[in-house]
Amino acid sequence: MNLTKPAPPSEDKRWRLVEGTMRRNGYEPHALIETLHTVQESFGYIDEDALKFVSASLQVPLARAYGVATFYHFFTLKPQGEHTCVVCTGTACYIKGANAILEAIKNEFGITPGETTDDGKVSLLSARCLGSCGLAPVAVFDGEIVGNLDAPRVIERLRRWVGND
Ligand code: FES
Repeated sequence: MNLTKPAPPSEDKRWRLVEGTMRRNGYEPHALIETLHTVQESFGYIDEDALKFVSASLQVPLARAYGVATFYHFFTLKPQGEHTCVVCTGTACYIKGANAILEAIKNEFGITPGETTDDGKVSLLSARCLGSCGLAPVAVFDGEIVGNLDAPRVIERLRRWVGND
């Protein structure tokens, strides 16, 4: 392969461990879960920079990396609610109303990206382009990628999580 590999997000030596896992697997997409494990073990959680780096290195869509990282309970994205909603705010999703979705979530649940509801039920994250622009606006609900969203549909899903006790 003559593609140049993306540079790690920082000079932190722990990225070498992460790169080691990917190299051992020939930078194949199937190394995604194992690589995210290495990130989690090395850093204690998986943030957006790590997801971007891993998805670019293994050439898997960012949405898939988010999907895997939010689906499995042993992975931790920084804010840790019982459920995680990642709203895409990339250009295509923005044009198709991602902001109205975030606005509606804020009005209803009082959280902005990076925050968790007081009851610990829902963590909200945002991402720049999940690589599924054709389905804009897109969000990932606990690992499930959903497209063609609008504010009422998102609110309805989050209400189910919050009311679900
Ligand atoms: S801009 Fe949202 S998926 Fe690309």
